[in-house]
Amino acid sequence: MKAIVLNRIGHPLDVLEMADIPEPEVKEGTVLVRMVSSSINPGDFLFTQNLYPAPKRPVFPQQVAGNHGAGIVIKTGKGVVIPAGSFVAFSYADTWAEQAVIPAEWLIPLPADYPVEKAAQLVNLITGWDLVEASGAKAGDWLAITAAHSAVSVIAAQFAHRKGINTILITRKKSSGIDLGKTNAAAILDLSSGNIIKEQLQQLTAGKGLKAVIDNVGGPVTGELIRSMAFGSRLVINGGMSRERYDVHNLDILLSGLVISSYVYRYFFAPPPPSDNAWLQELVQVTAGDDFYIPFGGFNTLDDFKEAIAGSEKPGTGKRIFTISAV
Ligand SMILES: NC(=O)c1ccc[n+]([C@@H]2O[C@H](COP(=O)([O-])OP(=O)(O)OC[C@H]3O[C@@H](n4cnc5c(N)ncnc54)[C@H](OP(=O)(O)O)[C@@H]3O)[C@@H](O)[C@H]2O)c1
Repeated sequence: MKAIVLNRIGHPLDVLEMADIPEPEVKEGTVLVRMVSSSINPGDFLFTQNLYPAPKRPVFPQQVAGNHGAGIVIKTGKGVVIPAGSFVAFSYADTWAEQAVIPAEWLIPLPADYPVEKAAQLVNLITGWDLVEASGAKAGDWLAITAAHSAVSVIAAQFAHRKGINTILITRKKSSGIDLGKTNAAAILDLSSGNIIKEQLQQLTAGKGLKAVIDNVGGPVTGELIRSMAFGSRLVINGGMSRERYDVHNLDILLSGLVISSYVYRYFFAPPPPSDNAWLQELVQVTAGDDFYIPFGGFNTLDDFKEAIAGSEKPGTGKRIFTISAV
């Protein structure tokens, strides 16, 4: 079967190659999935660079790339309850391939008509939901989210709006290709216009300051955001796409009673517990329709992986999805 593999550590464009590898073997407690769609995420690039914590580390030779996707169960191992033919999503490993073997407890069942571009990135929907919870922001509070055009930010902004939170989306440069208006964010802060972040945020929040920040980027902007917070605020670190560092003084944190925490995807180390099933099905239902927006950069085949990866690094162009087979 076709798979995109790596045999050394590095940037995906330098180390990934197309390979023909044997079909993986189904064992007790696992299923064979025919992949339908897989997402291309910044985390997949961390994986090829060996930056994820153990056990999510590449194993050579022929490590299959990709960590998130959806597909149809075509074979089940002993002891598996989920039937063949089910459409399922999962965040596990080996998703940039025609088939994958996945332990059954990692599977999240989906309705057959759930959009494949959303199924491929259930991780981002779950993360967006969790981040708004983790921010502690309540109705009427001001929440800033960096990397405005990212899937996670657009998703989080929509969940925040549903809770009555005022969101400010922060971008390096506003893109005409992504309609941030669909998030119902209260404001978009475009850093390319050279605005001084603190003054601008004071103005936008009518002097209240930010109660929470969800930060996907890091770098000097994060330092500025820390100095723009209201008392008793919270900064949730979800990503580090900027290579730059930032300076803060202890008093920047102390005098705003700021709590800084990190978010790690809730199913990064362990599969979804059965107690999450009802919530997951509700999340799937709420996000299924066209009224729930995710910036979509287009479908690519596995053969076209170089174009897909290069495309996903272009700012403000939307999430790229591998389309591998039909539902
Ligand atoms: N902690 C977790 O468990 C977890 C789970 C899922 C995702 N994440 C993180 O969430 C973030 C968003 O992921 P995603 O899949 O939604 O991203 P995505 O859809 O691929 O979006 C990428 C966006 O990130 C921004 N960006 C990229 N490089 C940047 C840079 N060097 N400096 C500033 N901004 C940059 C750009 O936004 P603008 O064009 O608006 O500037 C770009 O449009 C990533 O940091 C990812 O690692 C974390």
